[in-house]
Amino acid sequence: STILLLNGPNLNLLGTREPAVYGATTLADVEAMCSEVAKGLGHSLEAFQSNHEGDLLDQIHAAGRRFKAGELVGVVFNPGAFTHTSVALFDAISGVKPMPVIEVHISNVHAREAFRHHSYVSPAAAGIVVGFGTDGYRLAIEGLVRKASQLAG
Ligand code: DQA
Repeated sequence: STILLLNGPNLNLLGTREPAVYGATTLADVEAMCSEVAKGLGHSLEAFQSNHEGDLLDQIHAAGRRFKAGELVGVVFNPGAFTHTSVALFDAISGVKPMPVIEVHISNVHAREAFRHHSYVSPAAAGIVVGFGTDGYRLAIEGLVRKASQLAG
């Protein structure tokens, strides 16, 4: 079935945005790579990026309905800066349980500014991948598929 790759604010700038922190890989590169990884695991990938919190909430709600219908494996989600601000994202992910959401951060947020150390999303996440660069998305997809087979088995 389908895996949803969700990227939050400013991740459309990947590749040109602070390359020393986030690398030179573009979001299109990440989405193409994730599509290949998903395909290799027998799934298809849908990718969505938004700079708007409400759009991300709507995507999580829609994903929850598709998960319930058996059409979706789960979500790989980099919430960007909303990680550190959004009670609404925590509530949305909590509200569509048990759909698994894997939280990804390209950078090691714990080695950066103190305001990046707290995540509202993490307590609702099924797993977290932090600090592996854009490779983290691959690891997250692999981890999501393993989680899903554990849930099913
Ligand atoms: C990020 C880390 C966040 O603190 C930051 O606001 C981002 C990207 C990461 O992938 O490392 O936009 O989520």
